[in-house]
Amino acid sequence: MAINSSHQEKNSLLQAEPNSAEQNLERHNNALRPQSFDDYIGQAELIKSLKISISAARKRGDLASLGHMLLYGPPGLGKTSLAYLLASELGTEAKVFSAPALERPKDILGILMAANEGDIIFIDEIHRLNKITEELLYPAIEDYQIDIGSGKGTSSRLMRLDINKFILVGATTKLGFISAPLRDRFIHIHRMEYYSETELARILLDNSHKLGLDLQEAAAQVIALRARATPRIANRLLRLVRDYAEHKNLSQISETDCKQALDLYRIDKAGLDSMDRKILSSMLEHYQGGPVGLETIAAITGEDKNTIEDYYEPFLIQSGFLHRTQRGRVLTQRGSEYANQISNN
Ligand SMILES: Nc1ncnc2c1ncn2[C@@H]1O[C@H](COP(=O)(O)OP(=O)(O)O)[C@@H](O)[C@H]1O
Ligand SMILES: [Mg+2]
Repeated sequence: MAINSSHQEKNSLLQAEPNSAEQNLERHNNALRPQSFDDYIGQAELIKSLKISISAARKRGDLASLGHMLLYGPPGLGKTSLAYLLASELGTEAKVFSAPALERPKDILGILMAANEGDIIFIDEIHRLNKITEELLYPAIEDYQIDIGSGKGTSSRLMRLDINKFILVGATTKLGFISAPLRDRFIHIHRMEYYSETELARILLDNSHKLGLDLQEAAAQVIALRARATPRIANRLLRLVRDYAEHKNLSQISETDCKQALDLYRIDKAGLDSMDRKILSSMLEHYQGGPVGLETIAAITGEDKNTIEDYYEPFLIQSGFLHRTQRGRVLTQRGSEYANQISNN
């Protein structure tokens, strides 16, 4: 990262160390991240509107005029990947952080001061920013300025500093938890969509090449069907299938191999894992299908409430097993039938 001298001065002023450990973790963990718009499958509307905005910003010769962007939706649908992609498309850098790690004012100020023109500052779980950090962000987002304090006690004063024009990309699984003033400062607000089986199969075939696997198309379909409409899960299942194939010394992976492998790992035909099944069957057994409160579901399954709410439930709702009512969660007809089958097995 090129840091110009004025940045160095500002940096030493605050002695802030932008959290690079976290960034590196994200980067190295992920050999399967899409590297260009061509690799990024699905989310067609979002990508289309982004391409238009990028080309307009380029014509204006002002990359940051692309505007700040908020991405929301369930985990594993490609929010972080999109932030990296945007940066590589713009020829700038993506700096990736998670809101809970930005605890002290100097965390966020250090990051803002180190940003170069057009850099992407990605803040994951942005609904979890603390109030002070959030308020420090406002002038930065709006006017590319920050307020920093100097001196102590009665002689302390606020200094306003100009910073480079960056692009903030915020990601959240909980749009409703973002304060209105923060939300309203984003130009683009996009909901991430679940992926179709065809899209997931394409992602799986691309990634099997990256992993050096010979996966047949029908085999990719089998994995796609069980991947909860989510690329991150497709990747996880692909890794399980790879282990199975290596164990069996298979040079090519067929549909049957995939079915056997995923059955072995107890991922069923609807993509449900053992916790999904436990949620459905205990709702039927103990509460005749509901309504049941989230807390109760957490208690009877022994799973964390937030995990149920953010991870399990959205997919169970999306696939028509469950719905939400004022009085709690209720099994749908499909959900009851499925829960019955599970109990009979
Ligand atoms: N649109 C996509 N095309 C191809 N692969 C994707 C796409 N979206 C996500 N992935 C894959 O899924 C993984 C998880 O995506 P990520 O961006 O980390 O999701 P999120 O940040 O929304 O939780 C990525 O590493 C990548 O391999
Ligand atoms: Mg992410």
